[in-house]
Amino acid sequence: MTELKNDLLLRALLREPVERTPLWIMRQAGRYLPEYREVRAQAGDFMSLCRNAELACEVTMQPLRRYKLDAAILFSDILTVPDALGLGLYFVTGEGPKFERPVQSAAAIKALPEPDVADDLGYVFDAVRTIRKELDGRVPLIGFAGSPWTVATYMVEGGSSREFSTIKGLAAEDPAALEALLDKVAAVTTDYLNAQVEAGAQALMVFDTWGAALEADDYRRFSLASMQRIVDGLTRESDGRRVPVVLFTKGAGPLLTDMVGTGCDALGVDWTTDLATARQYVDDKVALQGNLDPATLRESPQVIRQGVADTLASYGKGPGHVFNLGHGITPDIDPDHVSVLVEAVHELSPKYHG
Ligand code: CP3
Repeated sequence: MTELKNDLLLRALLREPVERTPLWIMRQAGRYLPEYREVRAQAGDFMSLCRNAELACEVTMQPLRRYKLDAAILFSDILTVPDALGLGLYFVTGEGPKFERPVQSAAAIKALPEPDVADDLGYVFDAVRTIRKELDGRVPLIGFAGSPWTVATYMVEGGSSREFSTIKGLAAEDPAALEALLDKVAAVTTDYLNAQVEAGAQALMVFDTWGAALEADDYRRFSLASMQRIVDGLTRESDGRRVPVVLFTKGAGPLLTDMVGTGCDALGVDWTTDLATARQYVDDKVALQGNLDPATLRESPQVIRQGVADTLASYGKGPGHVFNLGHGITPDIDPDHVSVLVEAVHELSPKYHG
């Protein structure tokens, strides 16, 4: 295996000392980059891009060519798992993801097939291997999946949702059926993440975008419990190095305290909780990743620099911080504004270390 030249991310996620705060950006490969839009047009549609290892590798590398980032993240999507479960994923421009065959009853949940992860999701592992080769040890590669609850919201609602009325109805009327669905997704997701590690992923992140749509008790029962099953089943070492696991529930707030108990290495934090407060919630037991409001990137260079300074100061001194946005970068951002952010993290973060 090629030696990893920049391991700041892996060290920070394990709360080991670093010289400066490492950074990457959620959705760093995406529509705000003109070179992404070009490759995406060439591929035709989003899933064709995900299924083509060479093109998925190309768009993964694009942000690293522009910016001094400390990690690459696999170019794929959290909805590859339900697609492998036979739901028929497709994207409608302007409307987001949709499923041809949503799963809305106990019978439909029971009838879900047993996917062959190695085969049905083989295109993802091909992409991981291709990216690792191309990276040549420059920075680590992050693999990822959706949390079972978040993935289930799309499976049950049939696409994006605001109210989550169908899945919340299922939670109220047949919680055992919902739990069976979450167990199923958790089992497939565990195999999926372990196969990403086997293919070369060096850190893992679980995206729980919609966990905080649940009230706290239901969050623990349906979202956190299913992420716990995943953490319990993950390969935590590869090539003689620990593979750090990051959990990210958007809007978690005080529930960050509960998330520490899963045994993850780090937690993603969105911008609604400042890092100083988040650090108190987790009592320095895990690393934190975040949390500048992505909207800040629309502002002037001065405002972006100040936002970076405030975020670093909020976390404060010591190890265990990975700089990121509090959620994904949006398509309207000027790529030059991202340069301002990256430069500011490089320039302003060393004083918080050593
Ligand atoms: O961070 C990265 O650069 C890695 C790639 C990545 C994508 N999606 C690429 C993508 C990751 C980590 C995701 C995760 C994902 N996908 C989440 C969880 C994270 C989050 O943002 O909360 C969710 C909820 C999804 C489901 C999904 N996929 C949505 C809601 C959309 C947007 C649809 C739209 O048109 O706005 C997608 C599509 C998608 N996934 C795009 C990208 C770059 C845009 C597709 C395009 O090029 O048209």
